[in-house]
Amino acid sequence: MSEKIYIGVAWPYADGPLHLGHIAGAYLPPDIFARYHRTKGDEVLMVSGSDQHGTPITIKAEQEGKKPGEIAAEYHQQFLDSWRRLGISFDLFTSTGTANHTEVSQDIFLTLYNKGYIYKSVMLQPLCPRCRRFLPARYVEGTCPYCGSPGARGDQCDDCGKPLSPVELLQPRCRLCGTAPEFKESEHFFLKLSAFRDRLLDWVNQQTHWRQNVLNFTVRYLEDGLKDRAITRDIDWGIPVPLPGFNGKCLYVWFEAVIGYLSAAKEWARSSGDRERWRSFWQGEVKGYYFVGKDNILFHTIIWPAMLMGYGDLNLPYDVPANEFLTIEGRRLSTSRNWAVWLPDYLSRFDPDPLRYLLSINMPETGDTDFSWREFVRRNNDELVATYGNLVHRVLSFVYRNFDGCVPEPDELDGRSLALLAEAEETLSTMDGLLYRCHFKEAIRSAMSLAQETNRYLEEKSPWKVIKRDRLAAATALYVAISVISCLRTALYPFLPFSSIRLHEFLGFKGSIEDLGWQLKSPPPGQRLPEPRPLFSKLDDEVVEEESGRLGQARSTGGCG
Ligand code: MF3
Ligand code: ZN
Repeated sequence: MSEKIYIGVAWPYADGPLHLGHIAGAYLPPDIFARYHRTKGDEVLMVSGSDQHGTPITIKAEQEGKKPGEIAAEYHQQFLDSWRRLGISFDLFTSTGTANHTEVSQDIFLTLYNKGYIYKSVMLQPLCPRCRRFLPARYVEGTCPYCGSPGARGDQCDDCGKPLSPVELLQPRCRLCGTAPEFKESEHFFLKLSAFRDRLLDWVNQQTHWRQNVLNFTVRYLEDGLKDRAITRDIDWGIPVPLPGFNGKCLYVWFEAVIGYLSAAKEWARSSGDRERWRSFWQGEVKGYYFVGKDNILFHTIIWPAMLMGYGDLNLPYDVPANEFLTIEGRRLSTSRNWAVWLPDYLSRFDPDPLRYLLSINMPETGDTDFSWREFVRRNNDELVATYGNLVHRVLSFVYRNFDGCVPEPDELDGRSLALLAEAEETLSTMDGLLYRCHFKEAIRSAMSLAQETNRYLEEKSPWKVIKRDRLAAATALYVAISVISCLRTALYPFLPFSSIRLHEFLGFKGSIEDLGWQLKSPPPGQRLPEPRPLFSKLDDEVVEEESGRLGQARSTGGCG
């Protein structure tokens, strides 16, 4: 039975380039998941877009003498280019700057307002007397009132994970200039989160399939009580409050960004020619998955669900498989200190699959994991090249040369060969179960152990030697190996789409891998094989020093490019 799978992916801020933390946290996992489901024959809609509003981008624009919209447009293009080159297969990657998104956001705002879930009240807003601007929460720094950490931001304390509001900070100061902000009264709208607390807790407690960290974090937060939150700001770069008398106020960037999950589905439906089609991914029998980094959990397990409950008639998230953090060379990633590996830089120097491989096999699923260039080179050389790539190349080039470029005709299969084929079938079904539950790391590990096992099989059968005295025995072993390679092509496709697609061609297939389905499909004996090329290339040890030397250095390319 085919399923419907809606995949919402965190909307990246369009004010800076993507780095490997983003990719490991939120972008690679949904792509693996989408490719797997599409191959199974499920109907997938995977959407996201640039998050282009908010104060940081206006500050950056001022600094660079540009308009916020120009910066957003540049990064939006850069994101699209990165997705294409890294193979992140969105069905739609739009932005929060569309007329459609404004319309959908204002509709949700007004509906919640009319139902009494949004109300007007006065709030104290931090205003920096020196910078002469209202400061967004994350531009106020100070001491966390809960854990005492001195570096808390006005939106959240990274040390204890508690969301904060700027007034709660002890010794607050403006992040831009260090001055203590004044707090000015200003009329704003509040989302009545408190009204949803019990329903949310009930609902969350039923989500026993959620990752433990996501579940615990959410439950703990709800048990502490739930405060109403201001969802408008004094800013003119954003979506205007759709009520008269609120000039100069916009919807808070977080309130409208999550609405992107719905507006993107509507935009997708409209451009597919069937305006109502979004409903099949939002109502009835469809599972909605939201892939986000761990710092975004609450917005997806509490705030967005509360908004949906209030709005009505739309599905709540089925799962929010948030990942933990990726450290870089043993240290916490920091964009301001340039302790980060930038995706456009990576893609300008290396192929996409080795990165996809490393971030999959070392995914921060249940705890933080580390990226190091040494590990990148080692895994590329020892695992992608030596274990998997060589297996494929050795078999295909030997067959190409010795069997007229055709898949050999096997003899009857012995027990060892049947056992290997059974293991291949079993690997696909094990991976099916793992991928279905978003256990990506374990899934790719089982594919790689099948590759190892196939190498052992070939050691035992040594078709390269046996061919001299028993051509049929060699043909049989090679046929079995090709079948397992064909299985690996499908099993690894969600993780390594570029090399899998090349392998698919080397195996003589036309059409797409997804069309073959999540099953063992061996090429039939006699199928013509084109001349193979190696799937991966070895990386020089010098890469390690060269690349790690860039960390923490001033970036050569300023903004986008
Ligand atoms: N722009 C936010 C970030 O990069 C994520 C927004 S996710 C969404 O942290 F829910 F708003 F879409
Ligand atoms: Zn200031």
